[in-house]
Amino acid sequence: MCGIFAYFGPQTNPLEIVIKGLKKLEYRGYDSWGVALKTNNDFLIHKEVGKIGDFSFSDLQKIFPISNSQLPIIKIAIGHSRWATHGGVTEYNAHPHWSKNKEVVLCHNGIFENYLKIKEKLIKKGYTFRSETDTEVLAHLVEEYMHESNFENAVKKALSEIEGRYAVILISKHEDKLIAARRGSPLIIGKNGHDGEYFIASDIPAFLEYTNKVQYLDDDEMVIIDVSGARFENMRTHEKVNKRIVEIEWKVEEAEKGEYPHFMIKEIMEQKNTLYRAINQSAEKIHEVAKAIKSARGTFFVGCGTAGKVCMTAEYLFSKIAKRHINVIFGSEFKFHQDFLTDKSLLISVSQSGETADSLEAIEVIKKLGGRVVSILNNEASTMARLSDIVLPNKAGPEKAVASTKATTAQLAICTLLAYAMVDKLDEGEKLLIKTASQINDMLNPRYEDHIYKLSEKIKSAENIYIIGRGLNYPMALESAIKLQEVSYIHAQGFAGGELKHGPIALISENTPCIALVANDESKSEILSNAMEVKSRGGYIIGISPENAEVFDYWIKVPDCGNCSPIVNIIPVQILAYQLAVMRENNPDMPRNLAKSVTVK
Ligand code: F6R
Repeated sequence: MCGIFAYFGPQTNPLEIVIKGLKKLEYRGYDSWGVALKTNNDFLIHKEVGKIGDFSFSDLQKIFPISNSQLPIIKIAIGHSRWATHGGVTEYNAHPHWSKNKEVVLCHNGIFENYLKIKEKLIKKGYTFRSETDTEVLAHLVEEYMHESNFENAVKKALSEIEGRYAVILISKHEDKLIAARRGSPLIIGKNGHDGEYFIASDIPAFLEYTNKVQYLDDDEMVIIDVSGARFENMRTHEKVNKRIVEIEWKVEEAEKGEYPHFMIKEIMEQKNTLYRAINQSAEKIHEVAKAIKSARGTFFVGCGTAGKVCMTAEYLFSKIAKRHINVIFGSEFKFHQDFLTDKSLLISVSQSGETADSLEAIEVIKKLGGRVVSILNNEASTMARLSDIVLPNKAGPEKAVASTKATTAQLAICTLLAYAMVDKLDEGEKLLIKTASQINDMLNPRYEDHIYKLSEKIKSAENIYIIGRGLNYPMALESAIKLQEVSYIHAQGFAGGELKHGPIALISENTPCIALVANDESKSEILSNAMEVKSRGGYIIGISPENAEVFDYWIKVPDCGNCSPIVNIIPVQILAYQLAVMRENNPDMPRNLAKSVTVK
């Protein structure tokens, strides 16, 4: 989704910092971008459709040469990468947007839900609109209120009229002030050791090279940054808020590609270690969550996309290991189930980013009813973390490729631990996961990648790929489809193996690739029969399995990890999806139309 970046401070190259910051936010997904720099008495604004790519500060200088004498002592610059919602992908619709007399310039993530009503009001007052966005209304509205008040008060008044979920940064022509506000979309303030230097971004890696000291803006909070420092206040009550400075422990390299060509393959390979880290949970906390599940009147695992498929796997793990039913609902569907919920309901939210709007909405619903929230999260500093009663951290480190890989297997590991803890067998679960982690470590070697590469070569031009699984591996068949779709753009669909004969088998024709996810468990003989049904109709069977079978045309070996089979079976599909993306000349890190954290509903 959109990315925001702002710089406030003494450095002489503010736009260079902003452009660099936007590049670090590229992984979030976007289709246009723009920057604005405050000069002594005006703004320089540049916007473009497409990716920032190799665009650099020197390119910008060719467009508008900037000399230091044009700039105030305190430099203020903002930037934005836009993932279109209201209005097409055009330069006009790209941010920053400015007000009628260019008094105010701003960038915005999220949606101003009541923008049409405000727009009508402003049109009646003589304002004209350059863009089709919801964003532009705020710029004009602030300028309108600046007729009667200063910039800060005008922003407060304007924001009190805006409905929706958003993160917004605003600057004014006549004041050395940067204002940011959030309701629902992330904004983090970075404070450098140098006096008076601040960064604001949608995510920490954007400014991590300058500072690891951050302050999180919570919902309904705003920050006003000027030469006297940063003041935080509640947007509704205007009471002062004291913000803790948190020191981030990530290393800059963790958020960089290093020797790898793409984040996606780097993050797939990191699964050699990330599983060990995920397992290293506080036993006390795991037992606390198990107890909460036992005492709840209904436990609902909630997630979206890949995280939703992890929730579905948790349902099978809980049934198989803990002999207990849990409910699974995708974030966007949760509110439609609220009639069943009470203050005894427990929501377990699974999310990499902790910022997914659909999952956050589910949390709002359960909180209103008085229910409890546990989160399984990679981003421990996210909105979701702050809304949860208990957080189980994934510890996978920053995941920057849009396609989730290492966070997924970490989530699966934590769900497995929980299922074992339910029947007081946490030790057994840990041992199994440690064995699985060490087998993944052995599996992820260049020979393994080569073996999958040969398969990728064979199927790279396929129009459809089908994936089948049963039991624990049925949700992973669905997840495999997501992985293949999002980066290879090949139509892929996952099915429960037994469901094929009820309709989808009609899709199979000569040489249609069909991946069978096989586990050495009670589902094995049946999934092999399902694979045979596909093969008999001309399908090309790719078996991901601990053992070879006659039905396989291509076998990818995975270790036999018992109840951890979903974890090991998904990894070769992640590699396959990555390789297909590269072969088909797609950018696996930034697939078209997608965003890393989906902060709109
Ligand atoms: C696909 C993928 C998405 C996310 C989904 C939820 O590879 O990553 O389907 O799983 O958008 O995101 P989080 O986990 O951040 O809540």
